[in-house]
Amino acid sequence: MRLYVTGGTGFVGSNIVKVAVEQYGATVFTTAHRWRPEAPVPYEYGGVDVADRAQVLDSVRAFRPDAIIHAAILNDFNLMYRDRERSWRANVDSTRHLTEAANEVGARMILVSSDWVFDGMRSESDERTPPNPLNLYGVHKVVGETVVLAAARDGAVARISGVSGVHWTRPDTPLTQNVGFGNLVTAVVDALAAGQPFVLWHGAINMHATLSLASESAKMMMRIIERGARGTFHCCSGASLSRLEAAQAAARAFDLDAGLIRNGPPDWSATAGATVPHDTTMSAAATAERLDYRLPSADELLLTYRRERETGTLSAP
Ligand SMILES: NC(=O)c1ccc[n+]([C@@H]2O[C@H](COP(=O)([O-])OP(=O)(O)OC[C@H]3O[C@@H](n4cnc5c(N)ncnc54)[C@H](OP(=O)(O)O)[C@@H]3O)[C@@H](O)[C@H]2O)c1
Repeated sequence: MRLYVTGGTGFVGSNIVKVAVEQYGATVFTTAHRWRPEAPVPYEYGGVDVADRAQVLDSVRAFRPDAIIHAAILNDFNLMYRDRERSWRANVDSTRHLTEAANEVGARMILVSSDWVFDGMRSESDERTPPNPLNLYGVHKVVGETVVLAAARDGAVARISGVSGVHWTRPDTPLTQNVGFGNLVTAVVDALAAGQPFVLWHGAINMHATLSLASESAKMMMRIIERGARGTFHCCSGASLSRLEAAQAAARAFDLDAGLIRNGPPDWSATAGATVPHDTTMSAAATAERLDYRLPSADELLLTYRRERETGTLSAP
């Protein structure tokens, strides 16, 4: 399989690239944006700004993929609000360009999306729950989803949530707590493993979500491609938790001292004053059935994460 990944040098994308190369024997090309690998890597890469239609079309035509996974994101809330035109180009127009390119070369088109398409007012949203985003990031994701579902000849949306995992490309990237659920587990483990207290944010932020491990989400995406499945998928686990439950589960899985977890107010400085959804828990039952995938529990997911951190290798597909 020839797989074209955008944002393969980022956190989630690095997991997609690693799973595709190591477990599916795929030939992978990833877009490189600001950052470039310094040492030889087992995939191809090239400078592509996904906001630039010509660069996207040229690079897809040159690589001729069987499938595209679009994981790149302008991942800076303050910048997203400050320069709405630029963030629209990076997060929405990119999806149009990639969909056009996928249609032209006959590739499958998968968009990585988010639980923040939901308004956080109900639990366990499923694949058919209508989205109602509260902020610009969620709007970008919903519009991108709509582009793929309406315009891709062979397309799917892969929503992920509360993502933890290893950043395989740039392991030194600090994965810190934010008002969402992403990186929460990683941030807890990093602090507790260093014997430091962890101030768990509490307030009008994302208080409940469903855990994902980036490598497991990547495996689910590869199943979407393998099976030729179309539509919307929840590529997360079966574990919907509060922030406190997630932090305690992380301490348990890593044999760390949960007594170091404290409560504290959120740091809003990175959020541009945007409203944040409260409960973005997602049901992935329908996805699991369609992909013949067993949803891991919180403990299973976190133990898999621990093995990845400690051994530097993926668990079996
Ligand atoms: N992490 C989570 O908790 C979470 C939760 C839900 C959904 N998601 C989704 O998962 C996907 C990946 O997120 P992530 O956490 O892995 O983000 P990330 O670590 O910040 O990675 C983003 C990647 O996109 C690249 N990029 C940014 N702008 C680009 C452009 N104009 N052209 C080409 N590449 C560009 C970045 O490259 P440079 O760094 O070189 O600029 C980087 O490789 C996103 O779609 C995000 O919405 C993530």
